[in-house]
Amino acid sequence: MTAIATVSNNQRYAHSVAASKRVRWDIEKDVIRGRRFDPTRKFLPDGLSLAGEFTILSPDEKRFVSQIQGRTYANIFGLVERFINAKVLELSHDHWFGDQVALEALVRFSDEELKHQALFRRIDAMIGDVLPPGYRFDLDANAVAHAVLGKSTWAVLALTLDIELFTQSHYSQSIAPDPELSELFKDVFLYHWKEESQHAILDELEWVRIDAEVGAAARDRAVDEFLELVAAVDRILQAQARADAAYFAAACGRAVPEGEARAIEAAFLRAYRWQYIHSGARHPHFGKVLTSLITGRQGERIQAALATLQ
Ligand SMILES: [Fe+2]
Ligand SMILES: [Fe+2]
Repeated sequence: MTAIATVSNNQRYAHSVAASKRVRWDIEKDVIRGRRFDPTRKFLPDGLSLAGEFTILSPDEKRFVSQIQGRTYANIFGLVERFINAKVLELSHDHWFGDQVALEALVRFSDEELKHQALFRRIDAMIGDVLPPGYRFDLDANAVAHAVLGKSTWAVLALTLDIELFTQSHYSQSIAPDPELSELFKDVFLYHWKEESQHAILDELEWVRIDAEVGAAARDRAVDEFLELVAAVDRILQAQARADAAYFAAACGRAVPEGEARAIEAAFLRAYRWQYIHSGARHPHFGKVLTSLITGRQGERIQAALATLQ
């Protein structure tokens, strides 16, 4: 790495620390503020829940779908932030006796992800208070983290940057004017985005740093591992789309015919693939960083794999 690149990277870690201090928020005092979820409001905006895909459902049923997806949103983030935090703590080891500002940036990153997991546990419980019983999210965050962390750091950081950039796209969706959207859920997007913006910068710095230590053959394997991770995310989304569609059918207050149930499950899956795979993979900055690290053929492999998840 050149001296100029090192200086500007040091500055980027320093900017990240400064921004982290400036935007720091508290779960109860800033986000929740004594509020409860209002079940007459949507939790996820239409651009994320893909409300238009649930063509057979009434407006009230589409609102229920957005509330189910909101609860799953909290649970999916609680899940992925477990492995993200473990990887960040592992990466901090490389900075223990180096740039202390970079170390502080990663320590703050880790601290924030622990807080976000607590926020999402709180949100899950609060939504549970206002929605009908029977919702299920059966994945174990630690088991998923162990599986993810079995892959190379290059692959895990690729997935992590993807995730932390899509929280920014999700925030943009949530600020679209929509009087039916829950103010509390809008604040969840807002406050999460405020800290995730720094995380995405740090993911990129760490990914590029790790990439520089990886040879061509190892990087080629890591591209495959990244695709294995995306496929694992997709299996999680398929299972949750099935669970959430079954919960919808059991709790929506009417009999749902078999064919309609299948269409609802397919729409849940399209929404989840959009939220957790494509909104990150299509993020221009993710594409830019990824393209700078891989060959054209590796890029084609990634695009071909993503195209199968429609
Ligand atoms: Fe987070
Ligand atoms: Fe994050």
